[in-house]
Amino acid sequence: MLPKRVIGILTWREGLRFEEPAYLRKLVQTGQKLGAEIYLFSHQDVNVSARKIKGFIPKPNGGWMSKSFPWPEVVIDRYRRRVKEYIRLRNSDLFFFANSPFSKKWRVTNLLASDERVKRWIPETHVYEKGKVRNMLARHGLVYVKPGNGTGGRSILRVKSSGKDYSLSGCDKKHKHHVARIDTVEGVEKWVKTWVEEQRIRDGNFLVQQGLDLGLLRKHVVDVRLLIQKDERGEWTVTGCAIRMGEKGSATSNLHGGGKAIPFEWLMSRRFGEERGELIKQECYRLAFEVANTLEDYFGRMMEFGLDIGVDVDGRAWLIEVNPKPGREVFRQMGDMALYRKAIARPIQFALYLARNQARFLSL
Ligand SMILES: Nc1ncnc2c1ncn2[C@@H]1O[C@H](COP(=O)(O)OP(=O)(O)O)[C@@H](O)[C@H]1O
Ligand SMILES: [Mg+2]
Repeated sequence: MLPKRVIGILTWREGLRFEEPAYLRKLVQTGQKLGAEIYLFSHQDVNVSARKIKGFIPKPNGGWMSKSFPWPEVVIDRYRRRVKEYIRLRNSDLFFFANSPFSKKWRVTNLLASDERVKRWIPETHVYEKGKVRNMLARHGLVYVKPGNGTGGRSILRVKSSGKDYSLSGCDKKHKHHVARIDTVEGVEKWVKTWVEEQRIRDGNFLVQQGLDLGLLRKHVVDVRLLIQKDERGEWTVTGCAIRMGEKGSATSNLHGGGKAIPFEWLMSRRFGEERGELIKQECYRLAFEVANTLEDYFGRMMEFGLDIGVDVDGRAWLIEVNPKPGREVFRQMGDMALYRKAIARPIQFALYLARNQARFLSL
């Protein structure tokens, strides 16, 4: 029998507490079923001189157990915190990673907005500074202000011009909802300035972005979550997409408390008819392939992306955000368990492909 391929999953750990225990448990179990020697580890588990790793695997009835594992042939990076020791590890050449380090939202948006292959899908975006909101409101009836390093829909503000006044709506860091009605654009500038100062995360900046009218359903913001992954032959493939529907009245579609997941085809054909719905889907796929290939040119080999795509009321597709370490719960929430399992198996299949072909990649 051939020896098993050894795959490590790098993630944050404190004691037996992991960042995404439910997902990581399924990921390891899926890897075991696919015949891999697979385990989780964190930065503190690496013994360089012995070339051994203290790895963690799920116990059958819940919880985790650890033992010493051989050095991984391929490492999947699922670490989502900016911890010093992790960054040092990433910058070392100790491991062969399936996915390269990625960058912050504002830098990625800037790169894509200036690349001929994909710029047509990127809403107009600027780094926040004095006068920018006013300037954007002169051109767009709807403007979004959001942190260049934020996640989970936090601190995102929507500014809407009605012609005679402006309405503002957003959730703060603690998910508290804020609304305001302001008469003048000077007043809006001032309100947004305070928002940015209060919501800033560490030294992060904010983006001012053309707002998209994503009201495909009455009173709800909806957007598309598309998962594009490398498969067992190392090729990009779209695993699936779903619609995320925000809470009634919310400025974002993020799922924290109350959002829902629904099938893409159902909503698009209801809104635009079956034929047009299919064309919109093809457009989203094209966007995904172009974006994935373009980003690999800048960042090196990647493994998967979760794309937030906005389809506006005219049926036009726009890229809102790129997640390099995406969740896949949206497929489970939608009730498509086959797709959900596929979305979990793909990273393992890709890592196995890399392990089998490693010599070829290392000689490049
Ligand atoms: N320019 C925009 N126009 C319309 N809606 C937007 C815009 N930017 C963000 N949103 C809404 O806010 C949500 C969260 O924004 P996103 O940039 O994905 O930040 P996060 O990292 O918090 O998920 C999006 O999924 C979308 O529903
Ligand atoms: Mg998002």
